[in-house]
Formats: sequence, C-alpha cells, structure tokens
Amino acid sequence: MPMQDDIDHILINRDAISQRLDELAQSLAADLLAETQDGPGEVTLVPILTGSIIFLADLIRRLPIPMQIRVMSVTSYPGTAMSSKGASIEAALTKLPEDLSNNHVVIIDDILDSGNTLKLVKATIEQRNPISVRTAVLLRKKIPSAMSFQAEYVAFDIPDEFVVGYGLDFNDYYRNLPDIVTLKKHVYAQA
Ligand code: IMP
Ligand code: MG
Repeated sequence: MPMQDDIDHILINRDAISQRLDELAQSLAADLLAETQDGPGEVTLVPILTGSIIFLADLIRRLPIPMQIRVMSVTSYPGTAMSSKGASIEAALTKLPEDLSNNHVVIIDDILDSGNTLKLVKATIEQRNPISVRTAVLLRKKIPSAMSFQAEYVAFDIPDEFVVGYGLDFNDYYRNLPDIVTLKKHVYAQA
C-alpha cells in the first residue's frame, strides 16, 4: 500500500520547512561566527540519530562555516513506539570525542517531547567541557516537559500530536516523507 495512503493530514509542508530553515540557519550561523571570530574554538555539530538526519542534511548546507559532525545515538525505553519513558546512549553508534574543551557544540535533534533525550545528551556533552553548548530542534511540542528544556533554536512549535516525516518515524517507517504529517488511526491500530 502506498505510504501516502496512511497520511491523515499535512501539519508542515516542505516549502514551509525550507523557508523556516533559511531563517534558523542564518541566526545559528551568525551566532557561531560571532563566537569563533572573537575567540578560540571549533564548531562541532552533534546530531542525534536517527530522527535528525534530514534536518541535519538541510541545515548544514545552509551554514557556510567550518564544522565537524560527531553523531550520537540515543535509544528511548521502555515506552511504546509513541512515547518515551527514559533514554540511554548507544555507545557503538556514538562518535563523541572524550575532550570537547576546544569546541562550540550544537546539538541537533528532530523533536523535543519529554525532554529526556536532550537532557541526557546535554549533560553528557557538558561533562566533556565544551566552550559552549547550544541546541537546535526541528520541532517542539507545546507541553510543559518540552518547553522547560532550554533549546536556543526551534524551527516549529507544534500541538501535542504524534507526527512523522522529514526524518521522524513511527516504528522506523515514514522518515522519507518530505512533509511533516500525522497518520491515520488505523496505522497505529495495526502496529
Ligand atoms: P523525548 O521524549 O524528548 O526524549 O524525545 C525522544 C524521541 O522520541 C525523539 O527524538 C523522537 O525520535 C521521538 N518522538 C517524540 N515525539 C515524536 C513524534 O511525535 N513523532 C515521532 N517521534 C517522536
Ligand atoms: Mg524516533
């Protein structure tokens, strides 16, 4: 069955994403340039696998500054496919340097929901003494747990709905949809 048949409605379309990324990238680039022109340090982006991959790909091509990319993988457990109750770092897929003392770090994630993932990631990075840490997320749900985590760059605030596409998954599917969408109820019922 075509994937498109599972879509309930489009929440944010590809053009809106593209336009908003232009703005977000401009402000992130300006902030990073200001930091690195006045003082020491290199820029390191830390994308969280796997949900951030499309956001990352589109964002970095809008940032005309030298940077390294060091991935981290975080698994949520033991909730269902639609909720997270905790987070742990997957060491085998994580390439974070032990020492970040010469780095301005930008964490990149798909969505801020319970905040567990980003709290863990930020704490882990801070232990490695970076010069600065910032967080950029594509989406933030308008719920207290998400709003209470301080993310410097947020592309879109969305209602408390489960969304997929543009990197976000349900049971690891639908990441390749170009728009951010909700799914029909029967999709969840089948899973
Ligand atoms: P957290 O609850 O803030 O720790 O978010 C953890 C992860 O849950 C995110 O990086 C996503 O992979 C996933 N997630 C949370 N909400 C959604 C959603 O609406 N759609 C798809 N994935 C989600
Ligand atoms: Mg996910």
